[in-house]
Amino acid sequence: MNILAIDTSCDETAVAITNERNILSNVTHSQILMHQEWGGVVPNLARRAHEENIDMVIETTLKKAKLSWKKIDYIAVTYGPGLAIALGVGIEKAKELSRQYDKKLIAINHMEGHIYSCFAQNSAGNPLRPFKFPYLCLLVSGGHTELVLFKNHLSYEIIGRTLDDAAGECLDKAARLIMSGTVYPGGPLIERLAKTGKTDFVSFPRPMTGSKDLNFSYSGLKTSLFNYVNRHDDDHRRTHLNDIAASFQEAVIDSLIFKLEQAIKEYKINRILIAGGVAANARLRLKARQLANKYQGEALFPTFKTLYGDNAAMIGVVANYKAEKGDFVKNLDSLDREARASL
Ligand code: KG4
Ligand code: ZN
Repeated sequence: MNILAIDTSCDETAVAITNERNILSNVTHSQILMHQEWGGVVPNLARRAHEENIDMVIETTLKKAKLSWKKIDYIAVTYGPGLAIALGVGIEKAKELSRQYDKKLIAINHMEGHIYSCFAQNSAGNPLRPFKFPYLCLLVSGGHTELVLFKNHLSYEIIGRTLDDAAGECLDKAARLIMSGTVYPGGPLIERLAKTGKTDFVSFPRPMTGSKDLNFSYSGLKTSLFNYVNRHDDDHRRTHLNDIAASFQEAVIDSLIFKLEQAIKEYKINRILIAGGVAANARLRLKARQLANKYQGEALFPTFKTLYGDNAAMIGVVANYKAEKGDFVKNLDSLDREARASL
């Protein structure tokens, strides 16, 4: 069963072809360089770039997999969450192709894609990771910070979420503050700076560690960085860039790990899964592994580096399970983008 999957939820025009859990080709056209100039994603520019590139990305994906449309069984597309006008481009293209080639369409939630990115395999079927439900998932991206119970295929329950900013968004804003300029995305930059910095140079608060629920909050932490930067002169900031980044990153990671541990204890599940752009952070993954070891469990991450950020391969992998269940879009006209779709 070959599935051609499309994701245009944010700033990547992503198309992939998958067969069950195997990725046959996975192409992502990134708009990062374009948005970098503005210090963040500009929705109108994103939409236009998706429109300009989507046909080319689809062609390239088919070519890389050495497949023609005849060999494609279904089309899958992300319907949300994400930037509404960006999502719209992928959805309209998927509908058009579905009609043109007479293929059934499967609608996928972007966040369930991130979850399944931990189970994607290459074209040879590696790594082979059997599903051992249930899992505790920490989804951390530029728009989301959520704790999700992954009970079985396509069955989720959100048990915690951020009350304000997402962890990735918080790192993006922090990078702009400490670099005093337009930086995008900030997470990778903070990680690079933090590598040679002291994590205890500034004692930033660990948000929400006093609350019993499994929610997160990053606005207070962001304010404390803002105050710190304002209290010190530019010279101090420039000299201690690495230390400030390391201390801040540690506060963000500690708050994520703290709630994960709370969830492990509360739900008695020791298999954790971390996905989404922020999972690319090596220190977060190290601390998650240490946490899982403490509870004799395991920590899983996306199977390949290309699957940490947004991609369409993860969408194709979920679509496989939906197709098995016969969960197709019944009426193409009724499929609409859902910018705030929840799991
Ligand atoms: O999942 P993703 O690619 O897009 C969304 O769906 O939002 O996540 C993007 C987020 C950005 O906030 C970015 O700064 C963050 O992931 N990110 C990182 C790293 N790489 C990307 N955060 C921390 N460390 C990284 N290495
Ligand atoms: Zn994402």
